[in-house]
Parts: sequence; C-alpha cells; structure tokens
Amino acid sequence: MPAKWLKDTVFYEIYPQSFRDTNGDGIGDLNGIIEKLDYVKGLGCNALWINPCYDSPFKDAGYDVRDYKKVAPRYGTNSDLYRLFGEAHKRGIRVLLDLVPGHTSEEHPWFKMSGKAETNAYTNRYIWTGHWWQGCRDMPYIGGECERAATYVLNFFKCQPALNYGFARVEQPWQLPCDHPDCIATREAIKDVMRFWLSHGCDGFRVDMANSLVKYDDDQKSATSAIWRDVRKMLDAEFPDAAMVSEWSAPKQALRAGYDMDFCLNNDDTRYSTLMRDYQNGTDNSFFKKDAPARDINRFLEVYMDWYADTRELGYISLLTCNHDTVRPRFSLAPDELKLAYAFLFTMPGVPFLYYGDEIGMRYRQLPTKEGGYFRTGSRTPMQWDNGKNLGFSDGCADSLYLPVDPSADAPTVAAQEGQKDSLLETVRALLSLRHQEEDLQADAEFQPAYAQPGQAFAYRRGRLLLAVNPAGDQAEIPVDAQGRRPIFTIGSAAAEDGRLLLGAQSFAVLK
Ligand code: NOJ
Repeated sequence: MPAKWLKDTVFYEIYPQSFRDTNGDGIGDLNGIIEKLDYVKGLGCNALWINPCYDSPFKDAGYDVRDYKKVAPRYGTNSDLYRLFGEAHKRGIRVLLDLVPGHTSEEHPWFKMSGKAETNAYTNRYIWTGHWWQGCRDMPYIGGECERAATYVLNFFKCQPALNYGFARVEQPWQLPCDHPDCIATREAIKDVMRFWLSHGCDGFRVDMANSLVKYDDDQKSATSAIWRDVRKMLDAEFPDAAMVSEWSAPKQALRAGYDMDFCLNNDDTRYSTLMRDYQNGTDNSFFKKDAPARDINRFLEVYMDWYADTRELGYISLLTCNHDTVRPRFSLAPDELKLAYAFLFTMPGVPFLYYGDEIGMRYRQLPTKEGGYFRTGSRTPMQWDNGKNLGFSDGCADSLYLPVDPSADAPTVAAQEGQKDSLLETVRALLSLRHQEEDLQADAEFQPAYAQPGQAFAYRRGRLLLAVNPAGDQAEIPVDAQGRRPIFTIGSAAAEDGRLLLGAQSFAVLK
C-alpha cells in the first residue's frame, strides 16, 4: 500500500544548483530552498524532490556520489539539510532526497578500497572481471585505472562504477550470485544510507535507475525487484510513512517491487512524448500542440490504460511536466498550450511532479554541456524569480553563475506573472488548488476516458467529475452527456448542452 499522504500530493522537483543562491557564490544552496518554501507552498505543491545534494566531484551533476551521508559543501551542511526538513514539515511539505543505489563516483572511498590489489572488505562492492585483459561481454567496462589487475563495470558514465548486487544468471567465475554475502552487504550499505537520512527527517527517496541493480536480470526484473521488496520490508518496519518513487518507467514491475510511485518518463515505450514533446519525429503531433496535424490521445492511452488497470491497487503512476533529464515542455509548447497540458497532468490520477520553472514556462536553452549534462544542460538553468540582478537567482556576478540566466527580454519570471489572472503561474496555482479541493481529482478517484477519438478533443471522468480538453484552434463539439452539470473550472470557454459539450478553441473544463 502506498504511503497515505500521497493521496493529495503534488511534487515540486528542485535542481539545487539552480534554484536560489543565498550566499552569492553563483550556485544554488539549501538556504535558498528554505527561503522559497513559502513560494512552493503557495504554488500548491506539498512535497519536494531534491536532486542529489551530496558530496560529489560533480561529473554527472551529483549523480556521482562521493559520500552518501554528507551534504556537498557548495549547497551547505548536513545541519542546513536537517533544518530544511524541519522548515518544510512546518509548512506541511514533505521532502524526498535522491537515492543513487546503482553506482557511486569513482572517488567514493568504497571504490578506492575496491580497486586495491589486496583483498579487503570492499573488494566485491563493485563488479570486477577476473583479469586485467578480460572485459565484460555486454556491459561497458574500464581497465588501467587501479592497482587491481581487473577491469570494472560501469553503470552510466565513466565516472560511475556499478555497485555489485550480483548477477541473476552467473556465466563467469567473477560474477557473483545475488545471495553472495558481499552482494547482500551492498544492499545493506544502501539501506544504511536510507536509514541515515530518514532518521534525520527526510520523507523518502526518488530512486535513480531503480531497475539497474542486478545484472543479467530477466525481463521482469525479478532479482532487482526482490531487493526492493526487501528494502520495502525495512521501511514498513522502521519508517512506515516513507515513500519511494522509481526511475523505472514500468509501473507494473516497480509497484510490485514495493514502490509507491513510478515515473512515466519521456521515452518511446511510455508514449509520454506524444502528449507534449513529440519533438523527435519530423512532425510535431503532440496532443497539446494547437496545430498538430494528427493529434490522437489514444497514442498515450494505449499504454497508460494498460498500466493503470494493472497497478491501481498497488500504487501510483507519476506524470511529470519534465525533469532535469529532458527538454523543458516550453521547447515545443507555447504558454497557452502549456496551460492545457498542465490542466491534463494535474487532473490525472496518481501523483504529479512539476519541475521548477515549468510553472512560469521557462525556456529550454541551447548551452554547452555542464557537469555531464550534455543536451540536458538547457533545462537546468537558474530559476527566474524577478527582473532584478540575475533574475533574482543570485547576487553573485553574472559570469560566476552555475549556468547563465535566460538573457531574453521576455524571459518569464515569477514576479511578472504573480497576480496576473491569465498567466501560466496563476493557472498552475488555480489548477493545484482545485486538485486539493476536489477529492475526485486527487490520486485515487477512478479515471475513465469518456470520448477519445483521433483528431478530436478528449473527455474523461474522474470519479463523479467530467473533464474535457480541446487543444485545437477551433471549437469542439464533444458527444458526451453533460446535461445538468455545471463547470467548476475552465480555461477558455465551455457550455454543457443536452447530449453534448461545447468547448471553445484551446479550452479545458471540469464539470460537476
Ligand atoms: C538518471 C538521472 O536522472 C540522470 O540525471 C543521471 O545522469 C543518471 N540517472 C545516472 O545516475
């Protein structure tokens, strides 16, 4: 059963480097997050996911952890983080940290010990081949870096050696089975990290590459799932309120493995890109694009409905505006299109996530890579608060900023949109406030498509509510029975008539 508090939760993802810098060194910090908690609360978000803020050489923006239990000095201290937990809780905001269980930095002391020639307690903490001339058949590996006469397997970048949770199918003498005591020790070490932060007040974890633990796992990820079920058992016994969201994008597997939520990420299998960022195919047919030549919500529903049916009793699917790994939705959608996309995301079941800055329509920027970001760097620029120095992000000098702020004259800011009724920011606030008011819009109420035809607007039910969205530039006539219902929320215009619902161009409505 997922944590009860998730029933009415909307997450805000913060990339700490770029949110708010309070000491003028050009990089965001934990005190900056604390300073903006009231803003987060006022937006209607009642939980945070903070990207890794641990000590790291930052070759992958902190996903290369050097010390799991220490806050990176550039963000502050452990005490700052504990204070952040306390201040967030005072405002009814929960905090998830990012757990990176699949790999560490090559500078982690475990790895340094593991690379030593003589056997020690960390020799099998990572995956090493038997000889220095021996590579691994089907996983990337590195040799020539350590005194140990073997090569080691990578989980992601070169700086991220894979932690050893064992092999589901052992084919070589150097591959250990999952129940080998050293593989169990890796799992216990990660549990120890979880206990550490949970006992200091964190509310759970977003788990990086959660499906990557056991190598040569079967298609169902059975061995990796068994590890997570064991972790869940620990949480249920020791921290029953803790929640976990997985980077897995296979909710049928992740939720059975004990996760509360699984992300519907931006990849082909999930069809998420068909909603708002269909940018990889020559023609943009994203559902929310006003001029999409062949819009079709079924491209998304074909996968989503199957997931939803199979996981309703287990936990939640998390839809997201974007994250630090994807281009921002503003890349392909204009603010009026974004309003409709967000209206849909924030009225769907499960637990939605909003990436910092998407609420004001921050742009994706073409920038040189920073800290292993590559194309992702353009979605990681400083939050745009107001039209002051560095758009309110930092008092530091502009060339010392982690990344440059958006230089355009019309760079969207919080200050410019605050109080402007039709702004994207106020639309997000209104949508989230509606979600908190109406139980039928929250995580659990049933979702059912009511009208979903290729090329048409989409109508759906949540519990007793009827909702419809028309992203097109012309009025839509939707053949659903809306008789006796009144709109309780609209973007654009809506009129309920006998046997049909009329939605104006680029409109959205919730009817009761
Ligand atoms: C997924 C994270 O979201 C991404 O930013 C990171 O580079 C990889 N996992 C490796 O940890």
